[in-house]
Amino acid sequence: MEKTKSRILKALRQREDYLSGQELCQQLGISRTAVWKNIKALQGEGYEIEAVQNRGYRLKTVPDVISAPELESTVNSRWVGKNVRFKYETDSTNLWAKQLAEEGAPSGTLAVAERQIKGRGRRGRVWESPEGENIYMTLLLRPEIRPQDAPMITLIMGLSVAQGVEKAAGLRPGIKWPNDVVLDGRKICGILTEMSVQAEYMDYVVVGTGINVNQTEFPPELLDKATSLCQQAGRRFRRVEVAAAVLEAFERNLEIFLKTCDLSGLQEEYNRVLLNLDQEVRILEKTGERTGIARGINSQGELLVEYPGGETEAVFAGEVSVRGLYSYV
Ligand code: BTN
Repeated sequence: MEKTKSRILKALRQREDYLSGQELCQQLGISRTAVWKNIKALQGEGYEIEAVQNRGYRLKTVPDVISAPELESTVNSRWVGKNVRFKYETDSTNLWAKQLAEEGAPSGTLAVAERQIKGRGRRGRVWESPEGENIYMTLLLRPEIRPQDAPMITLIMGLSVAQGVEKAAGLRPGIKWPNDVVLDGRKICGILTEMSVQAEYMDYVVVGTGINVNQTEFPPELLDKATSLCQQAGRRFRRVEVAAAVLEAFERNLEIFLKTCDLSGLQEEYNRVLLNLDQEVRILEKTGERTGIARGINSQGELLVEYPGGETEAVFAGEVSVRGLYSYV
């Protein structure tokens, strides 16, 4: 039923005028009763679909839901996010995507939830996931890459979020290396990539992305660290449009990455939005800390840091933490 709903929505979206029941039946290869049942179900989910005798159906308004039919009928991609699985509530979309991967789900499958009760952040932290406001989605990929190249996928998602947000919301986020997407010095997004490796070969990767879209209230400890698109733009956004723009950008970027298995084709664009570029950064290493000037990423996604003596070091994301000198960024 969800797939039929996606197809009906897609057909209605493509038509500004009325689409006759007859045409819908033919396009989808289903009966009039089936069309009617699906239309009724969509109306029950908040879609305003006008039904006029002898003319057909017309989509008037759509609710801000992030369901499978809504995403599948909006995203304009070839394979990323084409197979969407939605649950109103789940523990964590990353855990769920891993389960789907173990069950054989294809590359490009997207697990989405309206709310997570055990949203997971990096370094074992919790990712607060209230319902109705944000995006919580995890993309399952089965790329033919070496396990050690997987961290670059996180950078690619960071870049895609920045590009998608720019396209869908007209805001211009920057990236704090390696993958914090930031507006006004505060995070709008978190990305958690996890992988399964079998005998040194990549089995699958799950890329979990949380984007603060319409949230306007944050707990006190996050006030100076987190913000949302709504807070920055002063208006609400349809989450599906933001998610679709991010997924479309991700598909384009991933295909560029897969040609060379490095970031050489994306480096320039990444450095363009990199907030740390030519800024002083403090590199916190296990053995101590050093201060230098960030000169952008190299083709491996490492941050090039120039130290006062003139020597440049490539810093790997997994090994260090970078702090701007005077603010969170
Ligand atoms: C971070 O700590 O910055 C990473 C946060 C990642 C959150 C997302 S929300 C969707 C997916 N499911 C999870 O449990 N985590 C990721």
